[in-house]
Amino acid sequence: MATQRKPAKIESKRQNGSEIQLPKGKLGVMIPGMGAVATTFVAGVEAVRKGIAKPIGSLTQMGTIRLGKRTDARSPKIKEFVPLASLDDLVFTGWDIFEDDMYTAAAKAGVLDRELLGQVKPFLSSIKPRKAVFDHNYVKNLDGPNIKKGKNKMDLAEQLRADIREFKKTSGATRLITIWCGSTETFIEPSAAHQSVKAFEKALTQNDENIAPSMIYAYAALSEGVPFANGAPNLTVDIPAMHELSRKNNAPICGKDFKTGQTLMKTILAPGFKARLLGLAGWFSTNILGNRDGEVLDDPGSFKTKEESKLSVLEHILQPELYPDLYGNFTHKVRINYYPPRGDNKEGWDNIDIFGWLGYPMQIKVDFLCRDSILAAPIVLDLVLFIDLAQRCAELRGIGIQEWLSFYFKSPMTAPGLYPEHDLFIQLMKLKNTLRHLRGEELITHLGLEYYD
Ligand SMILES: NC(=O)c1ccc[n+]([C@@H]2O[C@H](COP(=O)([O-])OP(=O)(O)OC[C@H]3O[C@@H](n4cnc5c(N)ncnc54)[C@H](O)[C@@H]3O)[C@@H](O)[C@H]2O)c1
Repeated sequence: MATQRKPAKIESKRQNGSEIQLPKGKLGVMIPGMGAVATTFVAGVEAVRKGIAKPIGSLTQMGTIRLGKRTDARSPKIKEFVPLASLDDLVFTGWDIFEDDMYTAAAKAGVLDRELLGQVKPFLSSIKPRKAVFDHNYVKNLDGPNIKKGKNKMDLAEQLRADIREFKKTSGATRLITIWCGSTETFIEPSAAHQSVKAFEKALTQNDENIAPSMIYAYAALSEGVPFANGAPNLTVDIPAMHELSRKNNAPICGKDFKTGQTLMKTILAPGFKARLLGLAGWFSTNILGNRDGEVLDDPGSFKTKEESKLSVLEHILQPELYPDLYGNFTHKVRINYYPPRGDNKEGWDNIDIFGWLGYPMQIKVDFLCRDSILAAPIVLDLVLFIDLAQRCAELRGIGIQEWLSFYFKSPMTAPGLYPEHDLFIQLMKLKNTLRHLRGEELITHLGLEYYD
């Protein structure tokens, strides 16, 4: 059964803004799914801690935030503006269906070169996966030996909760967070079992097929009062039962699906077209990738989950209902092709058919030779630090969904009835204004008339 979380006894600091507990002690990062993304993230954190490399792409580590007027010249680093956990205080654990420690898993993923990996080998080798909660029916192209057995799904959830408590004790962490870096599961639609904590718990004991493994992790984490961020497009915490549990136990949630390669480009380009009122006739996106994620997505069930996540972006940004002449009739297709020689180095092609003045057509081609996990790792780091901030913040911890973290996701979760904000630049403004608000700083509207008084 879900238990109420006891508030952590950490010293509080209050400026003019919200009450935020300082990040004292270690932060335990728990990762279901220790594959390419998770190992690239953890190896990267260790490399940065050792001074071997820089945390490029991470807003929490490299980003600044403007405060006050443009003439004030106040732009501190974000990590100096809000009290975030230090990288030195991060400790890690995780679960995977394979027994490989994080060094072996990273070497197999082939994202980072041997030289870099060699320098963080002792640390990575020390992190071994716990037995996973897994069911082949939800990820058809995957099978592995490192799996928990239990009499029903509730029993499996209890085993995960025991793992969480054990990690907290042995690691000495004062706080924990969970971030799903596991595979994309087959497409599931919200059903009766997802509508309340009570219905969900009953369904767990009845082994209801509408409960996927990722939901069992989320239930276990939230029941322990631990926040949960969802890096995959799986439904997981985007159901009323999890919203309820999150609010009840002051355990923030956010998701879904890290916004990295092609969708990142889409949410950069599409707002530009709309800003200039250029029409869209069609957008064809295709990818080749050869990592395990690609293999999993080769299954139609898992692909459908990913496709839904990728497709929603344009509709929301372009608002066809407001601009029928420009966006009322565009074709949007997304393809993902598993092509082993590419490994993690995905290639994403986009053919974009736009039209301008008097309807004259034009084309844009984007060929993004990207590295999936290199793009995802800094997102994982920022989410870990920001969701921990949320759990230490009186104003945020009890609200459930952290919509201000939409910046990081392909399908941002929102309160029921709200449409998600996909435009990357609005998302960034929302995130930074949230931080300003928390610290009692003026929000920046970019009005700027005061400079011309
Ligand atoms: N890399 C990116 O750019 C990116 C972007 C958006 C989303 N994602 C998502 O992030 C996730 C991870 O991507 P990746 O490239 O690291 O994939 P990966 O296949 O390398 O790693 C996923 C790991 O999860 C494990 N796993 C699967 N089900 C599990 C379960 N129930 N419990 C514990 N472990 C489980 C697998 O064994 C595997 O090791 C995928 O869902 C992917 O779709 C990645």
